[in-house]
Formats: sequence, C-alpha cells, structure tokens
Amino acid sequence: MSGVIESVLHELRVFTPPQDAQARFDDMDAYRAMRQRFDDDFTGTWGDLAAQHLSWSKPFSTVLDDSDAPFFKWFADGELNVSENCLDRHVAAGLGGRAAIIWEGEPGEVRHISYAELLGDVCRAANAMRALGIGKGDRVVIYMPMIPEAAVAMLACTRIGATHSVVFGAFSSKALHERIEDAGAKMVVTADGAWRRGAVHALKPFVDEALSWGCPSIEHVMVVRRGGNAVDWTDGRDVDWQPALAAQPDVCEPLAVESEHPLFILYTSGSTGKPKGIIHATGGYLLWGRLTMQWTFDFRPESDVFWCTADIGWITGHTYSVYGPLACGGTTVMYEGVPTYPDAGRLWKICQDHAVSLFYTAPTAIRALIKAGDAWPARHDLSKIRVLGTVGEPINPEAWMWYHKVIGGGRCPIVDTWWQTETGGHMITPLPFATATKPGSATFPLPGIFAEVVDGEGEPVGHGQGGLLVVTRPWPSMLRGIWGDPARYVRTYWQKFEGRYYFAGDGARKDDDGYYWIMGRVDDVLNVSGHRLGTMEIESALVSHPAVAEAAVVGRPDDIKGEAVCAFVVLKQAEREGLRTELRKHVAHEIGPIAKPDDIRFADSLPKTRSGKIMRRLLRDIAAGRDITSDMSTLEDHKVIEQLQSQGQERR
Ligand code: WTA
Repeated sequence: MSGVIESVLHELRVFTPPQDAQARFDDMDAYRAMRQRFDDDFTGTWGDLAAQHLSWSKPFSTVLDDSDAPFFKWFADGELNVSENCLDRHVAAGLGGRAAIIWEGEPGEVRHISYAELLGDVCRAANAMRALGIGKGDRVVIYMPMIPEAAVAMLACTRIGATHSVVFGAFSSKALHERIEDAGAKMVVTADGAWRRGAVHALKPFVDEALSWGCPSIEHVMVVRRGGNAVDWTDGRDVDWQPALAAQPDVCEPLAVESEHPLFILYTSGSTGKPKGIIHATGGYLLWGRLTMQWTFDFRPESDVFWCTADIGWITGHTYSVYGPLACGGTTVMYEGVPTYPDAGRLWKICQDHAVSLFYTAPTAIRALIKAGDAWPARHDLSKIRVLGTVGEPINPEAWMWYHKVIGGGRCPIVDTWWQTETGGHMITPLPFATATKPGSATFPLPGIFAEVVDGEGEPVGHGQGGLLVVTRPWPSMLRGIWGDPARYVRTYWQKFEGRYYFAGDGARKDDDGYYWIMGRVDDVLNVSGHRLGTMEIESALVSHPAVAEAAVVGRPDDIKGEAVCAFVVLKQAEREGLRTELRKHVAHEIGPIAKPDDIRFADSLPKTRSGKIMRRLLRDIAAGRDITSDMSTLEDHKVIEQLQSQGQERR
C-alpha cells in the first residue's frame, strides 16, 4: 500500500464534474444545503428521509435512541418488511414488468427477471422455508454462487423475518462450519455447483463436509440445481430447491418486523480472533442502501442499468447488488463467473450487451484489466456508461486515470467510495455531478455522515497530517453489534475514543482543500484484492499444520492485488521439498483460496522484541524488500533477519 500512498501524496490533478441538471446533487451548493439540513436538525432530517423513502407498516415515532450508546437504535418503534420495500411496492406502482435482475451465467445464458416474477419466486421460497420450520429470528446461512436464487434466498428470509448470513462461496468448509456454528443457523441454502472458468465447480460437498463436523442447529439444506453435477444426498435433511418452490403458492404475506430486527449477519475479519459476525438492522440499513444508490450513483431506476461486480458474499454485494438497487425499483446486473473468462473482455461485453449505465468495481479488478490491455475495452461499446465507481481499497492514480480515460471515455465521473462491512453503505465519496474529483481521494463525507481525522487522543489533526479516521455521530446503517459478543463490539469500535467516536481502523488525511485521502488499515487487517483478511486468521491456519511451530503474517505491496500475503514460518523440522505448496494448500483448505500466502519464508525463529512481541513492522519491511526502519537494537537475533531477507532475494 505504501506505493499508493506515496503517489497520492503528490497528486495534484483535479477533475471538474460533468454538468447534469437532472442529477440529485447537481452542484456543491446542493451538497452543502443537504449537509446544512443535518447540521440544523440531525434527527429531524433522518426522520424525514426514512418516512419519505421507505414504506412502513407501522410508522416510527422516535428517530434515534441513544440511551444505550454505543448500542444505537434507529426508528425503533417503526415496523416494515424489506422484501415488501424491494418488491411489492414497485409492483403496486405498476413496475411489475421492469427487469429487477439481469443475470448472465458464465456459459453465456441470460435471464431477465421482472419485479413481478421475482416477487413470485421470493414468496414461493419464503413459503418453502416456512414449511421447513424457518420463522422470525431464525438464522439461515446462504452459501451460493452468483445466481439469481441467491438474491431470492436473501429476500425470502426477509419476507418471513429470518436473519440471513451469506458466506462467500469460495470460503472453505472450515470457514463455513465456523460461521454456521457461530450464527447457530437452522438452515443452509446452497447449490450443487456453479460455473467458473469454463467448468462446473461443486459447492454442496463443502456444505456436507462442514456439517459432518457437527452443526446440531442445522435442520435442512436447500439445494439449488445449477451445475447439474451429481451430489451426495442426506434424506430428511436435504431438500431440492426447485420442486420445493414449485409446490408452494406465489403469495406470501410479508411479515412486518421492528426496524431494529437483525436483517443479516455478515462475517468479516478483524485484527484479532475469529471473524466477527457484523449485525445489520432492518430499517436503517435499507434506508441508506436506497439513499446512497440515489446520491452516490445518481441512480435513475427508470433508465439506468446498474452493475456492481461484487459477490453477494461481501457487504458490497449485499448493499449494491441486491438491496440498494431493488429498494429503488431499478435493474441490477448479476454475473456468475470470473471476469476474465473466456477472455479479458468479458466485463466490457456484459456492459455492452446489457447497456450498463452505472458500473461499480474494485481497484484490483481495474488493475488486472489494465494489464490485459486497452484492446479489450476498445472492442466493446461502453457509451451507455455514465458513472463509474470503485470500492474496497485505495485506488492508485494510474488505475484511476485508466478507468477515467479508457472505460469512461473521459466523460464519466468516478466515485471512489470509502466504507466498510460495518458501515452498511457508503460514507465518504464524491457525488458524481457535484464533486470535483482528485484521483485517489474519496473526497468528502456524504450528507448525514460526520467523519473526522483525529490523533490518538481524538483531537482533529491539521490539514495535510495523517491521523485516524473516525465517525463522530451515529448513522442509520451502522452495525448494531457483533453476533454473540457485545463486549467485542464495544472494545473494537468504541473503546479507543471512550465511546465518543466510531473507530474505523483506517488511517486518513485531509488535504488543504479538505479532501479525505484514505491511507489503509492501521491494524492487522490485510486488504488483498479488496478482500478483508485478518493476519491472525492466516497465522492460526498455518500453525494448525503439523509441520509449523510458529507463524507471522504481514502484507506487502502488490501491483495488482493492492496487498499480497507474506508469511514468515518457523518449522518444527527441517524444510522439505514441496512444503511451501503444501502450506499454501493448507491455508486454502482452512480459510479459502483468497487467503493463500503469496510468499512464504522459513526461519529458525521470528524477530521479537525482548518482551517477546513479534516485530511486525520489521517483517513488513522485509516482505516489501525495503530498507529496515525499525530499531534493531532490541532484536534478539540479527541472523534471523538475514535469513528472511535472503529468501526474498532468491526469489526476485
Ligand atoms: C478499505 C468494503 C480506500 C478500508 C466496502 C476499509 C477502502 C476496508 C475503500 C473495508 C476506498 C474500502 N478507499 N480504502 N474507497 N473502500 N476500503 O469491510 O481499509 O470489506 O476499512 O468493506 O476496505 O473492507 P470491507
């Protein structure tokens, strides 16, 4: 990440936004006016927006309840149903025929699913889940490829008040097992398999394996037939999705739930311990999903086609592939396969074929596509695109410029959106037709969001100085806690500034014009290809291998992935042939392929301070091949350093 940071520090280019009088925010005065509304009447403004943008079965009378801070409650006495907001109200408004989802399978088949059809499917699925004993408050784990049934399963849960927990389909059975257990889930929804890189990859065997380790809370596994691959079947437990839905009526009364009812749990990595189950609540989350679609992307449901390339296994896929666009009544694109199959033009072909007008992806994907060459986008008609977005990691100015010129034809504003699993939706981002952009800067907090850059004591730092990014006021789509561990919620996000501020875990700086520049994580969380990974998770995976005595994992800058995983390993015996490959496989088996170390270095011991702490900063310097900046006088063993450095040189 340091390469990115160095280049952004010298970034001076400013791009004035294109003019569009139709845009919701058509200049900075409009932005400032909205901010002013929040300054003048914080809760009143949120209350107006919630009343105006969501359909409530029971209206709320209080907007924000902070009596039990930091366990904030929003619109607490109101009741609503998410699927009703995402489907029924659009059908009732005469939009039943509009495409809700345009889905493309990797082999190339296309499905247009209208709002009326999606509503019918969601009702059938909700009825089927209910028939299998799922009700309000039960947890349903969704372990699915990017197929429409994944969105149907999510919405079906919301219809009956079940809380879903989507587990990324490329996570291992171990990771799946851990999440099922932690959530105490009653059902898993999965698929037989899905297409990836031209072949069917089985998915259900991972569920079978996870459940073989004992998940007593699980009663049923619903299986969507997608890959057509043969799968083992446990009678009484496993249920075929398609016939189960076909047997149900396409009507199901939406269950109104309290605004604070947990809509979903999504596991994400932290700096210590197991992944945390981040809880999002119904009303506040949905409100911000809808509003940010309109504000950040200037989404016009009647004419735009929106495509967020994120998998539903991540928060970006939750908010911007499913809930945000559907809450607006617009069209969302879903694609099953890998972006470079059968060639590096696939994403651009999808944009062309489905007339995508708003495109949202991660810098890592952009960097990989830059490498593939400009000829790929040049072959496709990208003229329908009007706004481009990025998310997940800092974007380096070179990638920003390429995105701007080659994909956006120099016409399209870029929204570099900073946010997190915990924030539910965008926090700091340009408004496409109002904010002048600087490549690499997420620019300003959205109206209603109060963010600051502070020092360790919580005092705002001067312009140009680095500090910690905090949010100083609660917001509706904020996380409500960590599943099963309220103390960890307080400790992780609120303790640092004694309950005053939400601590995001990112470093940031404001420049002389007040622009926010995100500098990356200040904790032991890695950002690999825009995916969050905890160093400790990978270390635990490594030490669970019989050959490993001790392991330390750090990130090192990587041109494509942003950060790569570098592991320093102490073995129990002498190194043997093929062990590096075996350890990589082992980590993939424990967590998933995204966590595989890119670089493994063996040593007789790890560099530690006299008090026994692993010197991570030193390891980061070694991993990056940089000069060592740490004070080495406290080091127990200088030889270890040479040993670790020399392995890096061997492989350069
Ligand atoms: C990083 C993804 C710079 C950041 C939505 C954050 C970013 C973490 C940006 C959250 C951005 C996300 N610029 N860094 N535009 N967006 N990040 O929970 O470090 O998977 O804390 O949520 O990604 O990752 P998460």
